[in-house]
Amino acid sequence: MTDSQTWSSDLNLSANEFWAQSPGQRYAAYRTLRALQSPPFFEAGESPFGTAERGYYALLRHADVAEASRNPQLFSSAAGATSIFDLPVEFNEYFGSMISMDDPRHARLRRIVSRAFTPKMIKKFEEDVQLTAGVIVDELLATGPCDFVQHVSARLPLKIICQMMGIGDEHYEMVLRNTNIILSGADPEFISEDLNEALTQILTAGGDLAALVTGLAEQRHASPADDLVSALATANVDGEQLTTAELASFFILLVVAGNETTRNAISHALLLLTEHPGQRELLLASLEGRIGPAVEEIVRYVSPVIWMRRTLTADTDMNGHAYRENDKVLLFYQAANRDETVFGPTADQFDITRSPNPHVGFGSAGPHFCLGAHLARREITAVLRELLTRVPDIRAAGQPDYLLSSFINGIKHLPCEFG
Ligand code: HEM
Repeated sequence: MTDSQTWSSDLNLSANEFWAQSPGQRYAAYRTLRALQSPPFFEAGESPFGTAERGYYALLRHADVAEASRNPQLFSSAAGATSIFDLPVEFNEYFGSMISMDDPRHARLRRIVSRAFTPKMIKKFEEDVQLTAGVIVDELLATGPCDFVQHVSARLPLKIICQMMGIGDEHYEMVLRNTNIILSGADPEFISEDLNEALTQILTAGGDLAALVTGLAEQRHASPADDLVSALATANVDGEQLTTAELASFFILLVVAGNETTRNAISHALLLLTEHPGQRELLLASLEGRIGPAVEEIVRYVSPVIWMRRTLTADTDMNGHAYRENDKVLLFYQAANRDETVFGPTADQFDITRSPNPHVGFGSAGPHFCLGAHLARREITAVLRELLTRVPDIRAAGQPDYLLSSFINGIKHLPCEFG
């Protein structure tokens, strides 16, 4: 571990004030930190669980994020957690799914889950995505100017992930409320500023979601349906099945990851197309030709998931820096996605024609690469296609209200207008 260094608040990645700055200030700080000789080290601050926590190195360069991702034996997801703070046992029950496991446990779970994503199921959700996006835009046109997050971007990922799971409409609001709490960061709109209360809120949210899936799994055991919960509850790989706890924590991972990421990519997309009219014109001029690269550029530029943590399992050197066993590293996807050595002098520009675009918004190549990347791309594409063909002049009508979080690049509210 390195000597502690005192960072000014405009560079201190552990300070809430840092994440309250404007996006421009954040990206300027990444640039300064990337240019340092070796990865900067930050104190973690006080653990919400009352234990002394060690700090972490911030990996802000593309090469470091890529190399750590492809070496899971050295850069472990299971040693501790993928959050900055190690999680106590009661949290692991709900939040300790495969994202915080290494092989062979990780591979076993991912295999079971991948088998549940059958071609039939994938085809079905692809059709559902376009249809649902169409209905959302019908309703937007009937509503008129409104909060884009509430009326558009939050609705598609929520509905699709719930449909895939077999969760009925009556539970949608409860699912969204609980996933918002779980990834609320430090934002007082969703979570108490009192630490103990906040921890109770997060555990209760996990418990409520676990109860929902446990109930569904029992029903599906008795009478299987054509949904993911049935497939997971009855999946059998080499004689193995998911335990009730594995099913619950996997379900929580899926609904949280499915809801709290794509929504923000869609909200940021509207903001970006408003702030960059030239890029909107380019896209409108050849919607089908450019929508694929545009979605990749949105994910790069926004990086809805800002970082994931890994923990060193042995002393090692990586790209000229010596790490010690037990060191924590945070893989800053958002900073790696602005690395000039990969994206050139235009790294900070939003350019829907960027090619190649080797972004790490869904993670870099490795065993944990985003399981939902294909679905997320489909969702962002479907909603943009519907909006830009049927409401081509839709635009952000005011400042976004950003989520206060170091982990999720979120927009809570965004007024929109058209017509
Ligand atoms: C724009 C939207 C999304 C972004 C930016 C995103 C980003 C990420 C990132 C950065 C990781 C970690 C990769 C790593 O550690 O190497 C990840 C993992 C994961 N994502 Fe996504 N994600 C998105 C949408 C989704 C959706 C829609 C789902 C589910 C339906 C999903 C499910 C998962 C799961 C299950 C994992 C853990 C995979 C594992 O540990 O093997 N994600 N995602």
